Amino acid sequence: MKYNEAMLRDGALQGKHIIVTGGGSGLGKSMTRYFLQLGAKVVITSRNLEKLQKTAAELSREAGSEVLALACDVRDYEQVEKMLKDAVAKFGYINGLVNNAAGNFISPTERLSARAFDTIIDIVLIGSKNTTLAVGKYWIKEQIKPARILNIVTTYAWTGSAYVVPSATAKAGVLAMTRSLAVEWAKYGISSNAIAPGPFPTKGAWDRLLPGDLREKFNPAKKIPLKRVGEHQELANLSAYLMSDFAAYINGEVITIDGGEWLYGAGEFNILEKIPPEMWDRLEQMIKEKNKKTR
Ligand code: HXC
Ligand code: NAP
Repeated sequence: MKYNEAMLRDGALQGKHIIVTGGGSGLGKSMTRYFLQLGAKVVITSRNLEKLQKTAAELSREAGSEVLALACDVRDYEQVEKMLKDAVAKFGYINGLVNNAAGNFISPTERLSARAFDTIIDIVLIGSKNTTLAVGKYWIKEQIKPARILNIVTTYAWTGSAYVVPSATAKAGVLAMTRSLAVEWAKYGISSNAIAPGPFPTKGAWDRLLPGDLREKFNPAKKIPLKRVGEHQELANLSAYLMSDFAAYINGEVITIDGGEWLYGAGEFNILEKIPPEMWDRLEQMIKEKNKKTR
């Protein structure tokens, strides 16, 4: 058994009808692929219909099940309501939502126009709010339960991060929404969880966060204790579990999947990893000598 193999049993998502925002590319596409393999029906949405249709054709060919591609800019509540209506018309009901769509790029904050900052907040925070509100109202009105929300945030939703301040601000808001609704909507049979991934190579993220030779200069694998980036199936496994009934008692949780990256950046003495093993004898001796003198 390998860490990058499919984890759940066949049929684990049978009866699940899931909307994946940003499902046409990157991690959204990988999650959708695995949800389909496990028996779910999936609606993928984003702004680019052509890209969505290409992905839908590829994934439904692979899995032999149906994927519905619907254009929807999550920033626009009316488009979200229309997308939901079309999804329900096609699949009869929806009982899962993965808020995965995002926008991001690196920039010193003082270089950003007000519109640039808004663009990221609007996709990530307002977009997740729009889908959550529209789908949540539908679930409560139609008494669809159990229903599950999964928000894809990131580890800097807790810590913040320089040079991606709009994204950090928006993801922190999504994290707060995840936990707040986990409590408020549990009575309707709706659970709400999140995943905080560390670096998982995708074209969308790498082109905007590690352009040009930055990806060699700041190779993310180097600052991960496990010395590698994530593989898509690892995230797909975790997300499928969280969308399945096996995770029925998990509500309000945020699971980090980053090989220990953010703790590596946080621990005061983690940097001592750079000390070569042979130097530890000398360091131990120095400390013990000082101990003797101060006794
Ligand atoms: C400064 C920039 C900029 C840049 C865009 N803008 N790129 N400002 N530096 N690099 C400014 C523009 O000048 C404009 O402001 C405003 O932002 C909006 O830009 P548009 O191109 O008009 O917006 P739009 O077409 O809506 O595109 C949104 C986008 C784009 C976010 C800018 O990159 C996009 O479509 N992204 C979607 C996919 C994505 O970002 N994926 C990565 C997710 S990775 P003005 O004032 O000039 O009009 C992720 C990982 C996190 O989230 C964790 C990693 C470990
Ligand atoms: P990606 O392929 O660029 O995915 C982002 C998706 O969002 C795209 O499919 C894009 O499609 C869609 N999108 C953007 N704006 C939208 C809008 N206004 N309305 C609807 N859809 C929109 O990047 P990714 O790396 O897979 O990212 C997926 C998620 O993982 C994001 O939430 C990201 O923050 C998170 N994440 C990624 C990493 C990583 O290392 N890759 C790490 C931590 C967290 P269109 O352009 O067609 O609209």
